[in-house]
Amino acid sequence: MIVLAAGEGTRMKSSLPKVLHKISGRTILEHLLNAVSEVESKEVRVVVGAGSQEVTEALSTFSKSAKSVLQEVRRGTGDAVRIALADSPATGTVLVCAGDTPLLTSQTLKALVESHRESGAAATVLTAELPDPFGYGRIVKANGELISIVEERDADKDQREITEINSGVYLFDIAALRDSLTKLDKKNSQGEEYLTDVIGILREAGKSVGTYLTEDFTEILGINDRSQLADVSALLRDRINEALMLSGVTIVDSASTWIDLNAEIEADVRIEPGTSIQGKSKIKAGAVIGPRTTLVDCEVGAAAQIIESHCESSKIGNQAKVGPYAHLRSGTVLAGDVKVGSFVETKNAHVGEGSKVPHLSYVGDAEIGKETNIGAATIFVNYDGVEKHQTKVGDHVRIGSDSMLIAPVTIGDGAYTAAGSVINEDVPPGALGIGRARQVNILGWVLKKRKGSKSANAAEEKK
Ligand code: UD1
Ligand code: CA
Repeated sequence: MIVLAAGEGTRMKSSLPKVLHKISGRTILEHLLNAVSEVESKEVRVVVGAGSQEVTEALSTFSKSAKSVLQEVRRGTGDAVRIALADSPATGTVLVCAGDTPLLTSQTLKALVESHRESGAAATVLTAELPDPFGYGRIVKANGELISIVEERDADKDQREITEINSGVYLFDIAALRDSLTKLDKKNSQGEEYLTDVIGILREAGKSVGTYLTEDFTEILGINDRSQLADVSALLRDRINEALMLSGVTIVDSASTWIDLNAEIEADVRIEPGTSIQGKSKIKAGAVIGPRTTLVDCEVGAAAQIIESHCESSKIGNQAKVGPYAHLRSGTVLAGDVKVGSFVETKNAHVGEGSKVPHLSYVGDAEIGKETNIGAATIFVNYDGVEKHQTKVGDHVRIGSDSMLIAPVTIGDGAYTAAGSVINEDVPPGALGIGRARQVNILGWVLKKRKGSKSANAAEEKK
Protein backbone atom coordinates (compact mmCIF):
# COMPACT_ATOMS: atom_id res chain seq x y z
CA MET A 1 0.00 0.00 0.00
CA ILE A 2 1.09 3.56 -0.68
CA VAL A 3 0.85 6.64 1.53
CA LEU A 4 1.52 10.00 -0.11
CA ALA A 5 3.37 12.37 2.18
CA ALA A 6 5.86 14.22 0.01
CA GLY A 7 4.00 17.49 -0.30
CA GLU A 8 5.44 20.63 1.23
CA GLY A 9 2.45 21.40 3.36
CA THR A 10 2.92 25.02 2.28
CA ARG A 11 -0.40 26.09 3.73
CA MET A 12 0.69 25.00 7.24
CA LYS A 13 3.43 27.68 7.20
CA SER A 14 5.58 25.51 9.42
CA SER A 15 9.19 24.41 9.70
CA LEU A 16 7.88 20.98 10.71
CA PRO A 17 6.69 18.68 7.87
CA LYS A 18 2.89 18.68 7.82
CA VAL A 19 2.42 14.98 8.56
CA LEU A 20 4.54 15.31 11.73
CA HIS A 21 2.19 17.75 13.42
CA LYS A 22 0.53 16.05 16.36
CA ILE A 23 -3.08 15.58 17.32
CA SER A 24 -4.13 13.71 20.46
CA GLY A 25 -0.51 12.83 21.14
CA ARG A 26 0.32 11.21 17.81
CA THR A 27 1.59 12.56 14.53
CA ILE A 28 -0.89 12.89 11.67
CA LEU A 29 1.02 10.19 9.79
CA GLU A 30 0.97 7.80 12.75
CA HIS A 31 -2.82 8.07 12.99
CA LEU A 32 -3.17 7.13 9.35
CA LEU A 33 -0.65 4.28 9.49
CA ASN A 34 -2.39 2.81 12.54
CA ALA A 35 -5.68 2.64 10.64
CA VAL A 36 -3.97 1.28 7.55
CA SER A 37 -1.95 -1.37 9.39
CA GLU A 38 -5.15 -3.06 10.53
CA VAL A 39 -6.11 -3.56 6.92
CA GLU A 40 -2.76 -4.33 5.37
CA SER A 41 0.50 -4.22 7.23
CA LYS A 42 2.91 -5.60 4.68
CA GLU A 43 4.67 -3.49 2.08
CA VAL A 44 3.63 -0.03 3.24
CA ARG A 45 5.45 2.58 1.19
CA VAL A 46 5.41 6.15 2.33
CA VAL A 47 6.38 8.67 -0.34
CA VAL A 48 8.42 11.41 1.32
CA GLY A 49 9.85 14.62 -0.09
CA ALA A 50 9.74 17.82 1.93
CA GLY A 51 11.50 17.16 5.26
CA SER A 52 12.14 13.61 4.06
CA GLN A 53 14.76 12.85 6.71
CA GLU A 54 12.59 13.96 9.59
CA VAL A 55 9.59 12.06 8.25
CA THR A 56 11.62 8.89 7.67
CA GLU A 57 13.09 9.07 11.17
CA ALA A 58 9.68 9.59 12.75
CA LEU A 59 8.27 6.76 10.69
CA SER A 60 10.78 4.29 12.11
CA THR A 61 9.62 5.10 15.65
CA PHE A 62 6.05 3.97 15.09
CA SER A 63 6.08 1.56 12.17
CA LYS A 64 8.30 -1.42 11.53
CA SER A 65 6.81 -2.42 8.21
CA ALA A 66 6.66 0.98 6.51
CA LYS A 67 9.43 1.98 4.13
CA SER A 68 9.97 5.48 2.86
CA VAL A 69 10.45 6.19 -0.84
CA LEU A 70 11.86 9.53 -1.95
CA GLN A 71 10.12 11.83 -4.41
CA GLU A 72 12.76 14.47 -4.90
CA VAL A 73 10.69 16.96 -6.84
CA ARG A 74 7.00 17.51 -6.26
CA ARG A 75 5.53 16.60 -9.63
CA GLY A 76 2.09 15.65 -8.40
CA THR A 77 0.24 12.74 -6.80
CA GLY A 78 0.43 10.67 -10.03
CA ASP A 79 4.23 10.95 -10.11
CA ALA A 80 4.42 10.08 -6.39
CA VAL A 81 2.46 6.86 -6.92
CA ARG A 82 4.60 5.94 -9.94
CA ILE A 83 7.75 6.21 -7.81
CA ALA A 84 6.22 4.10 -5.03
CA LEU A 85 5.11 1.44 -7.50
CA ALA A 86 8.60 0.95 -8.91
CA ASP A 87 9.41 -2.16 -6.88
CA SER A 88 5.84 -3.41 -6.29
CA PRO A 89 4.55 -6.75 -7.57
CA ALA A 90 3.27 -6.82 -11.15
CA THR A 91 -0.24 -7.90 -10.25
CA GLY A 92 -2.69 -7.62 -7.39
CA THR A 93 -4.33 -4.61 -5.78
CA VAL A 94 -2.85 -1.58 -4.07
CA LEU A 95 -4.36 0.83 -1.55
CA VAL A 96 -3.36 4.48 -1.97
CA CYS A 97 -3.97 7.10 0.75
CA ALA A 98 -2.96 10.69 1.36
CA GLY A 99 -0.85 11.07 4.50
CA ASP A 100 -2.86 14.05 5.72
CA THR A 101 -6.18 12.38 6.63
CA PRO A 102 -5.73 11.20 10.23
CA LEU A 103 -9.37 10.48 11.07
CA LEU A 104 -9.74 7.65 8.58
CA THR A 105 -10.75 4.44 10.39
CA SER A 106 -9.79 0.87 9.63
CA GLN A 107 -13.51 -0.05 9.45
CA THR A 108 -14.00 2.32 6.53
CA LEU A 109 -10.85 1.04 4.83
CA LYS A 110 -12.03 -2.54 5.26
CA ALA A 111 -15.42 -1.68 3.77
CA LEU A 112 -13.67 -0.04 0.81
CA VAL A 113 -11.53 -3.16 0.26
CA GLU A 114 -14.65 -5.32 0.43
CA SER A 115 -16.53 -3.15 -2.07
CA HIS A 116 -13.57 -3.19 -4.47
CA ARG A 117 -13.30 -6.99 -4.25
CA GLU A 118 -17.02 -7.49 -4.87
CA SER A 119 -17.24 -5.17 -7.87
CA GLY A 120 -14.05 -6.41 -9.52
CA ALA A 121 -13.43 -2.85 -10.75
CA ALA A 122 -10.00 -1.63 -11.87
CA ALA A 123 -10.28 1.24 -9.39
CA THR A 124 -12.52 2.13 -6.46
CA VAL A 125 -12.47 5.66 -5.04
CA LEU A 126 -13.47 6.38 -1.44
CA THR A 127 -15.82 9.35 -1.61
CA ALA A 128 -17.81 11.52 0.79
CA GLU A 129 -20.70 13.96 0.64
CA LEU A 130 -19.38 17.22 2.11
CA PRO A 131 -21.58 20.09 3.26
CA ASP A 132 -18.80 22.37 1.98
CA PRO A 133 -16.84 20.59 -0.80
CA PHE A 134 -14.55 23.58 -1.46
CA GLY A 135 -10.95 22.60 -2.22
CA TYR A 136 -11.55 18.92 -2.89
CA GLY A 137 -11.57 17.01 -6.17
CA ARG A 138 -15.16 16.49 -7.37
CA ILE A 139 -16.63 13.13 -8.35
CA VAL A 140 -18.12 13.55 -11.82
CA LYS A 141 -20.78 10.96 -12.63
CA ALA A 142 -23.10 10.24 -15.54
CA ASN A 143 -26.11 8.00 -15.02
CA GLY A 144 -24.77 7.25 -11.55
CA GLU A 145 -21.45 6.02 -12.91
CA LEU A 146 -18.07 7.52 -12.15
CA ILE A 147 -16.62 9.27 -15.20
CA SER A 148 -13.72 11.30 -13.85
CA ILE A 149 -12.38 13.37 -10.96
CA VAL A 150 -11.96 17.12 -11.44
CA GLU A 151 -9.89 19.27 -9.09
CA GLU A 152 -11.46 22.40 -7.61
CA ARG A 153 -9.14 24.71 -9.57
CA ASP A 154 -9.84 22.93 -12.87
CA ALA A 155 -13.60 22.50 -12.37
CA ASP A 156 -16.23 24.50 -14.22
CA LYS A 157 -19.15 26.18 -12.49
CA ASP A 158 -21.46 23.17 -12.69
CA GLN A 159 -18.78 20.77 -11.50
CA ARG A 160 -18.12 22.98 -8.48
CA GLU A 161 -21.74 22.44 -7.43
CA ILE A 162 -21.03 18.71 -6.96
CA THR A 163 -20.88 17.81 -3.26
CA GLU A 164 -19.52 14.27 -3.61
CA ILE A 165 -15.75 14.57 -3.29
CA ASN A 166 -12.62 12.47 -3.69
CA SER A 167 -11.18 11.49 -0.29
CA GLY A 168 -7.73 10.79 -1.75
CA VAL A 169 -8.08 7.09 -0.80
CA TYR A 170 -8.28 4.53 -3.61
CA LEU A 171 -7.88 0.87 -4.43
CA PHE A 172 -6.35 0.05 -7.77
CA ASP A 173 -5.59 -2.99 -9.81
CA ILE A 174 -1.80 -2.64 -9.97
CA ALA A 175 -1.35 -3.54 -13.64
CA ALA A 176 -4.13 -1.18 -14.77
CA LEU A 177 -2.77 1.60 -12.56
CA ARG A 178 0.78 1.19 -13.87
CA ASP A 179 -0.42 1.34 -17.44
CA SER A 180 -2.58 4.44 -16.84
CA LEU A 181 0.24 6.29 -15.08
CA THR A 182 2.22 6.25 -18.34
CA LYS A 183 -0.57 8.27 -19.95
CA LEU A 184 -0.71 11.15 -17.46
CA ASP A 185 -0.14 14.70 -18.65
CA LYS A 186 0.34 18.00 -16.85
CA LYS A 187 -2.46 19.86 -18.56
CA ASN A 188 -4.00 21.35 -15.43
CA SER A 189 -3.81 24.57 -13.46
CA GLN A 190 -0.95 23.30 -11.25
CA GLY A 191 1.09 21.74 -14.06
CA GLU A 192 1.31 18.53 -12.02
CA GLU A 193 0.65 14.88 -12.81
CA TYR A 194 -2.60 14.17 -11.06
CA LEU A 195 -3.32 10.68 -9.77
CA THR A 196 -6.98 11.59 -10.09
CA ASP A 197 -6.66 11.68 -13.89
CA VAL A 198 -6.09 7.91 -13.80
CA ILE A 199 -9.83 7.47 -13.25
CA GLY A 200 -10.76 9.14 -16.56
CA ILE A 201 -7.97 7.26 -18.34
CA LEU A 202 -9.15 3.87 -17.04
CA ARG A 203 -12.71 4.71 -17.96
CA GLU A 204 -11.74 5.65 -21.51
CA ALA A 205 -9.81 2.40 -21.84
CA GLY A 206 -13.09 0.62 -21.15
CA LYS A 207 -12.22 -0.50 -17.60
CA SER A 208 -14.77 -0.32 -14.84
CA VAL A 209 -14.23 2.19 -12.05
CA GLY A 210 -16.38 2.67 -8.98
CA THR A 211 -16.93 4.69 -5.84
CA TYR A 212 -17.53 3.77 -2.23
CA LEU A 213 -19.29 6.49 -0.20
CA THR A 214 -18.28 6.92 3.47
CA GLU A 215 -21.08 7.18 5.99
CA ASP A 216 -19.22 9.68 8.15
CA PHE A 217 -17.71 12.45 6.05
CA THR A 218 -15.56 13.70 8.94
CA GLU A 219 -13.32 10.65 8.50
CA ILE A 220 -11.85 11.87 5.27
CA LEU A 221 -11.17 15.47 6.27
CA GLY A 222 -7.67 16.41 5.19
CA ILE A 223 -5.33 18.76 7.01
CA ASN A 224 -3.85 21.44 4.79
CA ASP A 225 -3.65 24.41 7.19
CA ARG A 226 -3.70 25.19 10.93
CA SER A 227 -7.39 25.90 10.93
CA GLN A 228 -8.11 22.42 9.58
CA LEU A 229 -5.59 21.07 12.12
CA ALA A 230 -7.70 22.58 14.90
CA ASP A 231 -10.97 21.31 13.39
CA VAL A 232 -9.67 17.76 13.03
CA SER A 233 -8.11 17.86 16.52
CA ALA A 234 -11.48 18.80 17.99
CA LEU A 235 -13.22 16.00 16.08
CA LEU A 236 -10.70 13.47 17.36
CA ARG A 237 -10.99 14.86 20.88
CA ASP A 238 -14.76 14.32 20.72
CA ARG A 239 -14.28 10.80 19.36
CA ILE A 240 -11.89 9.91 22.21
CA ASN A 241 -14.06 11.52 24.90
CA GLU A 242 -17.20 9.86 23.57
CA ALA A 243 -15.57 6.42 23.79
CA LEU A 244 -14.33 7.13 27.32
CA MET A 245 -17.73 8.34 28.48
CA LEU A 246 -19.38 5.21 27.06
CA SER A 247 -16.82 3.14 28.97
CA GLY A 248 -17.84 4.77 32.27
CA VAL A 249 -15.61 7.83 32.64
CA THR A 250 -17.32 11.07 33.71
CA ILE A 251 -16.17 14.02 31.61
CA VAL A 252 -17.82 17.16 32.95
CA ASP A 253 -16.98 19.40 29.98
CA SER A 254 -15.89 17.51 26.89
CA ALA A 255 -15.01 20.63 24.90
CA SER A 256 -12.26 21.61 27.34
CA THR A 257 -10.95 18.10 28.02
CA TRP A 258 -8.06 16.88 25.87
CA ILE A 259 -7.02 13.28 26.28
CA ASP A 260 -4.33 11.55 24.25
CA LEU A 261 -5.13 8.29 22.53
CA ASN A 262 -2.37 6.56 24.51
CA ALA A 263 -3.92 7.38 27.90
CA GLU A 264 -5.71 4.61 29.82
CA ILE A 265 -8.55 5.70 32.05
CA GLU A 266 -10.70 3.34 34.11
CA ALA A 267 -14.43 3.55 34.66
CA ASP A 268 -15.61 5.86 37.45
CA VAL A 269 -12.81 8.34 36.98
CA ARG A 270 -14.15 11.91 37.02
CA ILE A 271 -12.49 14.53 34.83
CA GLU A 272 -13.24 18.16 35.62
CA PRO A 273 -13.10 21.00 33.03
CA GLY A 274 -9.90 22.37 31.53
CA THR A 275 -7.96 19.15 31.89
CA SER A 276 -5.39 17.61 29.58
CA ILE A 277 -4.17 14.04 29.96
CA GLN A 278 -1.18 13.33 27.78
CA GLY A 279 1.22 10.59 26.84
CA LYS A 280 1.02 7.16 28.41
CA SER A 281 -0.92 8.25 31.48
CA LYS A 282 -2.88 5.62 33.43
CA ILE A 283 -5.67 6.54 35.81
CA LYS A 284 -7.39 4.14 38.19
CA ALA A 285 -11.04 4.02 39.17
CA GLY A 286 -12.48 6.70 41.45
CA ALA A 287 -9.75 9.25 40.79
CA VAL A 288 -10.79 12.87 40.27
CA ILE A 289 -8.64 14.88 37.88
CA GLY A 290 -9.01 18.65 37.50
CA PRO A 291 -10.29 21.22 37.07
CA ARG A 292 -7.46 22.74 35.02
CA THR A 293 -4.95 19.93 35.44
CA THR A 294 -2.31 18.64 33.05
CA LEU A 295 -0.92 15.14 33.39
CA VAL A 296 1.92 13.98 31.15
CA ASP A 297 2.96 10.32 31.38
CA CYS A 298 1.57 9.93 34.91
CA GLU A 299 0.13 6.99 36.84
CA VAL A 300 -2.67 7.90 39.17
CA GLY A 301 -3.96 5.47 41.82
CA ALA A 302 -7.53 4.67 42.78
CA ALA A 303 -9.56 7.51 44.31
CA ALA A 304 -6.67 9.96 44.14
CA GLN A 305 -7.47 13.66 43.63
CA ILE A 306 -5.45 16.09 41.55
CA ILE A 307 -6.75 19.65 41.48
CA GLU A 308 -5.41 22.59 39.38
CA SER A 309 -1.97 21.01 39.03
CA HIS A 310 0.73 20.16 36.50
CA CYS A 311 2.32 16.71 36.77
CA GLU A 312 4.92 15.03 34.57
CA SER A 313 6.31 11.48 34.67
CA SER A 314 5.05 10.97 38.21
CA LYS A 315 3.27 8.24 40.14
CA ILE A 316 0.47 9.27 42.44
CA GLY A 317 -0.73 6.65 44.95
CA ASN A 318 -4.19 5.55 45.94
CA GLN A 319 -6.22 8.23 47.75
CA ALA A 320 -3.39 10.74 47.44
CA LYS A 321 -4.38 14.41 47.26
CA VAL A 322 -2.47 16.81 45.05
CA GLY A 323 -3.03 20.57 44.68
CA PRO A 324 -4.50 23.00 44.12
CA TYR A 325 -1.46 24.50 42.38
CA ALA A 326 1.11 21.75 42.76
CA HIS A 327 3.89 20.97 40.27
CA LEU A 328 5.02 17.36 40.28
CA ARG A 329 8.12 17.01 38.12
CA SER A 330 9.62 13.84 36.75
CA GLY A 331 10.56 11.10 39.19
CA THR A 332 7.99 12.04 41.78
CA VAL A 333 6.47 8.98 43.46
CA LEU A 334 3.73 9.56 46.01
CA ALA A 335 2.60 6.53 48.03
CA GLY A 336 -0.99 6.03 49.15
CA ASP A 337 -2.75 8.75 51.21
CA VAL A 338 -0.01 11.30 50.62
CA LYS A 339 -0.95 14.96 50.52
CA VAL A 340 0.94 17.47 48.38
CA GLY A 341 -0.72 20.85 48.75
CA SER A 342 -0.63 24.36 47.33
CA PHE A 343 2.47 25.82 45.74
CA VAL A 344 4.54 22.72 46.27
CA GLU A 345 7.09 21.58 43.68
CA THR A 346 8.57 18.09 43.75
CA LYS A 347 11.24 16.41 41.63
CA ASN A 348 12.87 12.96 41.98
CA ALA A 349 11.09 12.64 45.27
CA HIS A 350 9.64 9.56 46.95
CA VAL A 351 7.05 10.38 49.57
CA GLY A 352 5.95 7.52 51.86
CA GLU A 353 2.48 6.39 52.85
CA GLY A 354 0.39 9.01 54.65
CA SER A 355 3.06 11.74 54.61
CA LYS A 356 2.20 15.38 53.95
CA VAL A 357 3.83 18.30 52.20
CA PRO A 358 0.92 20.68 52.57
CA HIS A 359 2.16 24.14 51.60
CA LEU A 360 4.77 26.24 49.78
CA SER A 361 7.65 23.78 49.62
CA TYR A 362 10.31 22.48 47.25
CA VAL A 363 11.12 18.79 47.58
CA GLY A 364 13.91 17.75 45.22
CA ASP A 365 16.05 14.56 45.22
CA ALA A 366 14.45 13.29 48.39
CA GLU A 367 13.20 10.22 50.12
CA ILE A 368 10.57 10.78 52.76
CA GLY A 369 9.27 7.96 54.98
CA LYS A 370 5.79 7.20 56.30
CA GLU A 371 3.42 9.52 58.21
CA THR A 372 5.88 12.39 58.12
CA ASN A 373 4.89 16.05 58.02
CA ILE A 374 6.92 18.63 56.14
CA GLY A 375 6.11 22.09 57.57
CA ALA A 376 5.10 24.97 55.35
CA ALA A 377 7.81 26.65 53.29
CA THR A 378 10.38 23.90 53.77
CA ILE A 379 13.04 23.76 51.07
CA PHE A 380 15.07 20.69 50.26
CA VAL A 381 18.28 22.46 49.25
CA ASN A 382 19.55 19.87 46.79
CA TYR A 383 21.90 21.82 44.54
CA ASP A 384 25.27 23.26 45.52
CA GLY A 385 25.72 24.93 42.17
CA VAL A 386 27.67 21.99 40.78
CA GLU A 387 26.02 18.77 41.88
CA LYS A 388 22.64 17.54 43.11
CA HIS A 389 22.51 15.83 46.53
CA GLN A 390 20.04 13.56 48.25
CA THR A 391 18.00 14.19 51.40
CA LYS A 392 16.56 11.37 53.51
CA VAL A 393 13.75 11.97 55.93
CA GLY A 394 12.54 9.02 58.05
CA ASP A 395 9.12 7.89 59.31
CA HIS A 396 6.97 10.01 61.65
CA VAL A 397 9.26 13.01 61.30
CA ARG A 398 8.08 16.58 61.97
CA ILE A 399 9.97 19.13 59.89
CA GLY A 400 9.30 22.61 61.33
CA SER A 401 8.02 25.35 59.03
CA ASP A 402 10.58 27.24 57.00
CA SER A 403 13.30 24.65 57.44
CA MET A 404 16.18 24.54 54.97
CA LEU A 405 17.39 20.93 54.67
CA ILE A 406 20.81 21.22 53.08
CA ALA A 407 21.63 18.02 51.17
CA PRO A 408 23.23 15.60 51.61
CA VAL A 409 21.51 15.22 54.94
CA THR A 410 19.51 12.57 56.83
CA ILE A 411 16.75 13.17 59.32
CA GLY A 412 16.20 10.03 61.44
CA ASP A 413 12.88 8.34 62.25
CA GLY A 414 10.72 10.27 64.69
CA ALA A 415 13.02 13.32 64.67
CA TYR A 416 11.88 16.96 64.73
CA THR A 417 13.42 20.11 63.33
CA ALA A 418 12.70 23.52 64.83
CA ALA A 419 10.87 26.04 62.64
CA GLY A 420 13.17 28.36 60.77
CA SER A 421 16.16 26.05 61.02
CA VAL A 422 18.95 25.63 58.53
CA ILE A 423 19.77 21.94 58.88
CA ASN A 424 23.12 20.97 57.39
CA GLU A 425 23.99 18.10 59.73
CA ASP A 426 22.18 14.80 60.18
CA VAL A 427 19.50 14.72 62.88
CA PRO A 428 19.54 11.37 64.76
CA PRO A 429 16.26 9.46 65.32
CA GLY A 430 14.09 11.09 68.00
CA ALA A 431 16.26 14.23 68.26
CA LEU A 432 15.19 17.85 67.82
CA GLY A 433 17.43 19.63 65.33
CA ILE A 434 17.71 23.39 65.85
CA GLY A 435 19.79 25.37 63.44
CA ARG A 436 19.12 29.07 64.04
CA ALA A 437 20.43 32.00 66.10
CA ARG A 438 18.85 32.57 69.50
CA GLN A 439 16.38 35.43 69.68
CA VAL A 440 17.40 38.61 71.54
CA ASN A 441 14.86 41.29 72.61
CA ILE A 442 16.29 44.82 72.98
CA LEU A 443 13.86 46.40 75.42
CA GLY A 444 12.61 49.97 74.75
CA TRP A 445 14.34 50.15 71.34
CA VAL A 446 11.30 51.58 69.51
CA LEU A 447 10.54 54.13 72.24
CA LYS A 448 14.09 55.41 71.98
CA LYS A 449 14.87 55.13 68.26
CA ARG A 450 11.38 55.81 66.82
CA LYS A 451 10.18 58.34 69.31
CA GLY A 452 6.73 59.86 68.40
CA SER A 453 5.97 57.19 65.79
CA LYS A 454 2.61 55.38 65.78
CA SER A 455 4.43 52.25 66.92
CA ALA A 456 6.08 54.10 69.79
CA ASN A 457 2.74 55.68 70.81
CA ALA A 458 1.01 52.30 70.68
CA ALA A 459 3.72 50.85 72.91
CA GLU A 460 3.50 53.88 75.22
CA GLU A 461 -0.25 53.40 75.79
CA LYS A 462 0.30 49.82 76.91
CA LYS A 463 2.80 50.86 79.59
C1 UD1 B 1 -5.88 15.71 -3.29
C2 UD1 B 1 -6.64 15.19 -4.53
C3 UD1 B 1 -8.10 15.64 -4.43
C4 UD1 B 1 -8.70 15.13 -3.14
C5 UD1 B 1 -7.85 15.54 -1.93
C6 UD1 B 1 -8.35 14.81 -0.69
C7 UD1 B 1 -5.06 15.10 -6.40
C8 UD1 B 1 -4.60 15.76 -7.65
N1 UD1 B 1 -6.03 15.72 -5.74
O1 UD1 B 1 -5.93 17.14 -3.31
O2 UD1 B 1 -8.84 15.13 -5.53
O3 UD1 B 1 -10.02 15.63 -2.99
O4 UD1 B 1 -6.48 15.18 -2.12
O5 UD1 B 1 -7.70 15.25 0.47
O6 UD1 B 1 -4.56 14.05 -6.07
N2 UD1 B 1 1.81 14.57 -2.50
C9 UD1 B 1 2.99 13.91 -2.81
N3 UD1 B 1 3.69 14.30 -3.93
C10 UD1 B 1 3.26 15.26 -4.76
C11 UD1 B 1 2.04 15.92 -4.45
C12 UD1 B 1 1.33 15.55 -3.32
O7 UD1 B 1 3.42 13.01 -2.09
O8 UD1 B 1 3.95 15.54 -5.75
C13 UD1 B 1 1.06 14.15 -1.31
C14 UD1 B 1 0.84 15.26 -0.30
O9 UD1 B 1 1.88 15.27 0.67
C15 UD1 B 1 -0.49 14.87 0.34
C16 UD1 B 1 -1.20 14.10 -0.76
O10 UD1 B 1 -0.22 13.74 -1.71
O11 UD1 B 1 -0.32 14.03 1.46
C17 UD1 B 1 -2.27 14.97 -1.44
O12 UD1 B 1 -1.67 16.16 -1.88
P1 UD1 B 1 -2.33 17.58 -1.58
O13 UD1 B 1 -1.49 18.64 -2.16
O14 UD1 B 1 -2.69 17.69 -0.16
O15 UD1 B 1 -3.63 17.42 -2.51
P2 UD1 B 1 -5.03 18.10 -2.35
O16 UD1 B 1 -4.98 19.42 -2.98
O17 UD1 B 1 -5.47 18.00 -0.96
CA1 CA C 1 -4.62 17.43 1.07
